[in-house]
Amino acid sequence: MAVTKLPNAGAIARLFLLSTAALILAGAIATPHFAIEEATVEQIQQAFAQNQLTSKQLVNFYFDQIRSLNPLLRGVLEVNPDALRQAEQADRERAAGGLLTDLHGIPVLLKDGIGTRDALNTTCGSYALLGSVVARDAGVVERLRRAGAVILGKASQSEWYNVRSFSIPGGWCARSGQAVNPYVEGGNPCGSSSGSAVSVAANMVAVSLGTETDGSILCPADRNSVVGIKPTVGLTSRAGVIPISPRQDTIGTVSDAVYVLEAIVGYDPRDHEATKEAAGFVPCGGYKQFLKRDGLRGKRIGVVRSPFLDSVNDSTVLTAFELHLEVFRRGGATVVDHLEIAEINVILDPFKSGEVPVLMAEFKVGINQYLEELVESPVRSLADIIAFNINNPVLVIR
Ligand SMILES: *[C@@H]1O[C@H](CO)[C@@H](O)[C@H](O)[C@H]1NC(C)=O
Ligand SMILES: *[C@@H]1O[C@H](CO)[C@@H](O)[C@H](O)[C@H]1NC(C)=O
Repeated sequence: MAVTKLPNAGAIARLFLLSTAALILAGAIATPHFAIEEATVEQIQQAFAQNQLTSKQLVNFYFDQIRSLNPLLRGVLEVNPDALRQAEQADRERAAGGLLTDLHGIPVLLKDGIGTRDALNTTCGSYALLGSVVARDAGVVERLRRAGAVILGKASQSEWYNVRSFSIPGGWCARSGQAVNPYVEGGNPCGSSSGSAVSVAANMVAVSLGTETDGSILCPADRNSVVGIKPTVGLTSRAGVIPISPRQDTIGTVSDAVYVLEAIVGYDPRDHEATKEAAGFVPCGGYKQFLKRDGLRGKRIGVVRSPFLDSVNDSTVLTAFELHLEVFRRGGATVVDHLEIAEINVILDPFKSGEVPVLMAEFKVGINQYLEELVESPVRSLADIIAFNINNPVLVIR
C-alpha cells in the first residue's frame, strides 16, 4: 500500500513513504472516505471539520494501536493519562467555533527528554531521572499546548541520547528496552529519536517531536520512512529539554513536518541567545506557503554518492535509491549526480570535525545545570548519574 494521498505537506519526502502493513481500521471510526492510518494532519482536520471524527475518537484509536503494537515495537514509553480529557476539551472548542490552529486536537508524542510539567515523566529513557520533577513545560511544549495539540505521551529514545555509551544500540533505553523498526523487525530503528519515528511509522500517533544534536532526527526518520525536519539551531527553543550541546541541540519533528514546525518555532526568553537570532528568519505567514505541488521544478539537486553508498551492496537499497532520483527528475529537478566534496571523510568524522569533543564538553555543563534547576530529582549532577549507573546494574541493563 503506497501513500499517495498527500499532494502537499512534505511532498517530496512523502513520495518515498511506504505504508506499514495494512492495519486494521477501528470500526467505530471507519467511514468509506476516511482512513486514520497514514492520514495526514490536513486530512484529520478535514475529518474533524466534516464531523467524521473527533479528537477523542482519534486518541482512543491511537490508544488501541499502542495497546496492540507497542509491546513489540516499544516506541511509546508513557501514555498521558490526561490525553482523553485534553481531546474532549479540543472537541468542545471546535464545536464552539472560531479560528483554530492546524494542530488543534491533534495528538502529539514527545521524545522523553522533552520536559513536561504533568503526569508524564521526563527521563531521557533512564531510571536515574525517574521521579524527577521539572519546573515547567519545555518551551516547545508550551507552544504545542497553546496551539491546542493533545499531548499523547512520551516516546522512547536512545538512552541519554547515546551519550552514556557509543556502543549502546540505537533505540535502546533501560526504561523501555529496544525499540523495533516497524518495517523490518531486525532492522535498526536508529536513534536517538527512535520512539518518535517508530510510533509515527506504526500509526501509534499522528505526529511527534524529536531532538537532534548529531543525526538524531534525520537517521530515525530515514530508517522508519517518515518525514523528519531538523531545524536550524535556535529556530526552536531548547528551554526545558534535557541538553547535550547548546551549540548543536535542536528540537524538530518527524512527520507532517510543516504543521509541527509552524507551531514550535520562535523566540523563547528561556533560550534567549539562540532563539533571538533565529526568530528573525521565521517567515512571515509561516511555512505552509512554501508547500508547492510543483516545488521540484527548476531545482538543482546534488547527489554525493561516496562514501555513503560505497559499502552498500544490497540491490533493494540501491534500486530504491535510483528510483528516488528518478522521482526528483520526473518532478522537474535537475539531478547533478556523482558530486565529490573535498575532505568529506574529515567532515563526516564527528571526532575529527570537532563535533564530539564539543558535545562531550558541553554535556557536562548543560546536564549539571538542567539537574540543578529541577524541582525534585534523585540525581543532581553528572557524577550522581554515573554513580547511579554503577550502583544500579539491574536498572541500567535491561
Ligand atoms: C511516572 O513514573 C512513576 C514512577 O515510576 C509512575 O508511577 C508513573 O506511572 C509514571 N507516569 C506515567 C504517566 O506513566
Ligand atoms: C556484493 O554482493 C555480491 C553477492 O552477494 C558479491 O558477489 C559481491 O562481491 C559483493 N560486492 C561487494 C563490493 O561487496
